[in-house]
Amino acid sequence: MRPVRRIGDVQAPIIPIVGDLIRRHPGTISLGQGIVSYGPPAEALAVLARFPRSLEDHRYGPVEGDADLVNALRRKLAAENGIDVGAERRIVVTAGGNMAFVNAVLATTDPGDEVILQSPFYFNHDMAIVMTGCRMVPVGTDENYQLRPEAIRAAITPRTRAVVTISPNNPSGAVYPEEALREVNRLCAEHGIYHVHDEAYEYFTYDGVRHFSPGSIAGSEPHTISLFSLSKTYGMAGWRIGYMVIPEDLFEAVNKIQDTNLICPTIVSQAVALAAVDAGPGYCRSKVAALEAVRSLVLAAFASIADICTVPKPDGAFYCLVDVHAPIDPLALVERLVAEHGVAAIPGTAFGLSDGCHLRVSYGALDRESVEEGIARLVRGLRAIVGGR
Ligand SMILES: Cc1ncc(COP(=O)(O)O)c(C=O)c1O
Repeated sequence: MRPVRRIGDVQAPIIPIVGDLIRRHPGTISLGQGIVSYGPPAEALAVLARFPRSLEDHRYGPVEGDADLVNALRRKLAAENGIDVGAERRIVVTAGGNMAFVNAVLATTDPGDEVILQSPFYFNHDMAIVMTGCRMVPVGTDENYQLRPEAIRAAITPRTRAVVTISPNNPSGAVYPEEALREVNRLCAEHGIYHVHDEAYEYFTYDGVRHFSPGSIAGSEPHTISLFSLSKTYGMAGWRIGYMVIPEDLFEAVNKIQDTNLICPTIVSQAVALAAVDAGPGYCRSKVAALEAVRSLVLAAFASIADICTVPKPDGAFYCLVDVHAPIDPLALVERLVAEHGVAAIPGTAFGLSDGCHLRVSYGALDRESVEEGIARLVRGLRAIVGGR
C-alpha cells in the first residue's frame, strides 16, 4: 500500500516506547508517564453502586455532554476560574483533554494552516497538529521555560490560526504569570486568531503560586478556547473525561467533529465525573499538599548534582525538565538509565528539545519512598554515565 504521509510525519508516541523499555527491565522505577498516585474520590465511585439508573444509561447521550454535568462545570468555571459561560460560550464534555485539543484544532484550521506551540511542547499537541495537516510552529520559551510574547508575535503569519499555551506546563512544570497570559491573549485578539489554553494541571501549583485562566479576561470570549481534564485533578485518567470552553460560533463545528468521532462521552464516566466535580477541588488540593513534599526532595536531589545538570524551579504540575550537561542522545541516555540503573524518564526530544540533552522527570505517580529511591537511582545513574564528582 502507498505510505500515508499525514500519519507518517507524526512523531512516534514516546510513552509506549519507554513503557516497553521498562517492561523489558522488571523492577525499574518509572519517573516517566504523567499520572497521579490516587484514583477518584470515594463519593464519585459511590455512583457506581447506583448505576445504571435507567435504560437511558445504555443509550447515546447529548453530543456536548450530559446536561447535569455541563451545568456543574458551568458553576465550577464561574466559581474557580472566573470563566462566565453565558450566551457567548459553550461547554463541551470530551473523552479527555487530548480529544478537546483535537476538536479545537479541527474546528479552527484548514490543512496547511499554522498553529504556534511554546517549545518545549506537549507531544500530543504536536502530534494532533501534524495529523490534521497543519504546520506546528514552535516558539522557544526562556531559560526558565517562561513565555516570550514578543517571540510569539514575531512568529505569527497570515496562516497562523492559533497560539497554544499550557499552564501549569507539561513538560516543564512552569506556571505562567497572569500578565504574560494576558499579553498572549491580547496578541491573539489583535491578530484575529485563537488562544488555546490547556489547564489540565490547574490545581497543581506550589509555593503559593497562583493559577490563572485567560478565559476569565473580559472580552476574551470570541477568541479563547480553554481546555480542562479530570485525568490528573481527580485521578480519573482511565475514565476519559475532559471538557472545553469554546466561543459559541465554534459550537457547530465542534458538534460535527465530536458527533463523528465520539457521538457522546461515555455515560458512566460522566456520572462519575459529575460526582467528582461536586466533591470539589479540595480533594485534589489535599493530594497536592503531599506532592509538595515529594517535589522538595526531587529538587534537593537535583541541586546535589548541579555540576552535571540544571533544573529551572518548576512551580506547578508534577514534572521537572532536567538539562543534562553532556553531549549524549537523550533516548540513548534513557535506555542506559533503565538497563543499568533501573530508573526511567522521558527523553526531551519528544517535547521538541533537539539541542542538548534533556529528560522529563515525573514524580506524580509514586509514593514518597518510591520517588526517593527512583531519584536516588537517577542521580547515581547520571553521575555514572555523564561523569562529574
Ligand atoms: C497538558 C496536557 N493536556 C492534556 C493531557 C491529556 O489529558 P487527558 O487524559 O484528559 O486526555 C495531558 C496528559 O498528560 C497533558 O499533559
